[in-house]
Amino acid sequence: MSAKFLPIVLMTLAMSFGAAAYAQEDKQEVDGKYFDKEEEPTYNVKEDGTVDWYTYSGFRRYHSECHVCHGPDGLGSTYAPALAETMKTMGYADFIGVVASGKERITSSETSKMPAFGDNVNVYCYMDDIYVYLKARADEAIPRGRPKKRDKKPEQATTYENECREGT
Ligand code: HEC
Repeated sequence: MSAKFLPIVLMTLAMSFGAAAYAQEDKQEVDGKYFDKEEEPTYNVKEDGTVDWYTYSGFRRYHSECHVCHGPDGLGSTYAPALAETMKTMGYADFIGVVASGKERITSSETSKMPAFGDNVNVYCYMDDIYVYLKARADEAIPRGRPKKRDKKPEQATTYENECREGT
C-alpha cells in the first residue's frame, strides 16, 4: 500500500471503531436486561457470540408459540410473514399491539389471521423476550438456530416470570 493512502485508511478505521463503541454505549444494562436509547428492550450479543438471557428465552418461546405459522428462525412460511423481515421496521409498541390483539386481513381470495395472544401466559409473560430475539434476527446479530452460549438467568427474570404467571 502506498504511504499516501495510509492516513485515509487509519482515519476510516478510527471512524468505524468510534461507531462500534458508540453503538455499545447506546445500550444500557439493568439486571441482565438491555435497553436501547429509546429505553425499549433490546438484545445483547458479546464478541464470542454469548447472548443475553432474554434473547435466548425469546428463541425458546418463539419456537414453542410462533414458529408453527411464522417458520423457524423467523424466516416465514407460505401462511405467515417472515418476522425477521417485519422486525426490521416494526417498533416495540406495534409489536406488542399485534401480538396481544391479533390482526386479520381479508381479501376476496383469502383470509390471513394472526391470533391474539393477550391472554396466553406463555406469550404475554415473555413479550420482551420474543421481541428482542426477533430484533436480533432482523439485525442479523445472531445466526439461525439455538444460540450456543447465553448469560445465566437473572434473578430479576425469575421474579418477573413468577409474578406474571401468577397474575399478581
Ligand atoms: C396460527 C398462526 C399464527 C401463529 C401461531 C402466530 N402468528 Fe403472527 N401472524 C400470523 C398471520 C397469518 C399474520 C399476518 C396477518 C395479516 O395478514 O395481517 C401474522 C402477523 C404477525 C405480525 C405482524 C407482521 C406484519 O408484517 O405486519 C407479528 C408481529 C406477529 N404475527 C407476531 C407473532 C408472534 C410473536 C407469534 C408468537 C407469539 C405469532 N405471531 C404467532 C399467524 C400466526
